Amino acid sequence: MTEPLGSMRRFAGKAVAITGAASGIGAAAAARFAAEGARLALCDLNADRLNESSAALGLAEADLFVRAVDVSDGAAVEAFVADAAAALGGLDVLVNNAGIGCFGHVDEITPEQWRRTLAVDLDAVFFGSRAALPYLRESQGCIVNTASISGAFGDPGLVAYNVAKAGVINLTRNMAVDHADDGIRVNCICPGGAATTMIKAHTRDEPIMAEYERLVPMGRLGTPEEMAAGIAFLASADASYITGHALTIDGGVTAQTGQPNFDRIYRERGWDKKMLARKPEPEGR
Ligand SMILES: NC(=O)c1ccc[n+]([C@@H]2O[C@H](COP(=O)([O-])OP(=O)(O)OC[C@H]3O[C@@H](n4cnc5c(N)ncnc54)[C@H](O)[C@@H]3O)[C@@H](O)[C@H]2O)c1
Repeated sequence: MTEPLGSMRRFAGKAVAITGAASGIGAAAAARFAAEGARLALCDLNADRLNESSAALGLAEADLFVRAVDVSDGAAVEAFVADAAAALGGLDVLVNNAGIGCFGHVDEITPEQWRRTLAVDLDAVFFGSRAALPYLRESQGCIVNTASISGAFGDPGLVAYNVAKAGVINLTRNMAVDHADDGIRVNCICPGGAATTMIKAHTRDEPIMAEYERLVPMGRLGTPEEMAAGIAFLASADASYITGHALTIDGGVTAQTGQPNFDRIYRERGWDKKMLARKPEPEGR
């Protein structure tokens, strides 16, 4: 079980910047950091939703910096990080979380879709990290990126997303190595399916969601709060000797080989499992 929100105060007085903070995992991370005492700088493309979700955090005005930003715009990300650090008096943690999906094979998506996915999901991590380094050197802080299990393996029809998230995982590893000497830790989480607007947009109706859940050994999607708990752990002093790590949070999805689930097939049909071990009868007998 994760600790209940706010039962720890690991980020008391720390300045934490989060991209894509208006909904889903980013909003849950904002709530988690706020509950643990952090002061926050939040950005998102969706200004209305960001204003609404950040107001609900109940932070004092001086402890909250909010700005509408398109993270694919390097100059805008740079300005967000610099202004956030100025407003909060430095920066201890950067969470590069904003992201989008993109369906289609290599010969189905347009070059524009490919570029947009890589720009939002990967370029933005480069922009944010670059901008944050001077402040993190100063604070001996850390970066946590939201990658995905889709960055470690292939998904049917998700080529641009697979490539972008694979880039995020290896950017994480590279920066962990390059900036260990600077006293900066860099890690990422690799969520499996989390019940956010992103996944709901792709699954839409219940039969698809049920099919999705059948593929998860734990039998359900994760919650944004469970993903945020991983982000907070990696950002905290509890993870002081962890860097370059990709933390899988997926209910067991990637622990599987991908072979048919004979165990479940036999159970659902009421067949005797001992038949699994028995050699088939030779034909014609
Ligand atoms: N939900 C899942 O199953 C899942 C699984 C693995 C990884 N992820 C990753 O988690 C991260 C958060 O996604 P989520 O599931 O919370 O989805 P979400 O759609 O609820 O949240 C994503 C947020 O990013 C914002 N955003 C999108 N494009 C942006 C841009 N160009 N500039 C600034 N903000 C932008 C959106 O407005 C939204 O608030 C993403 O990086 C996503 O790839 C999600």
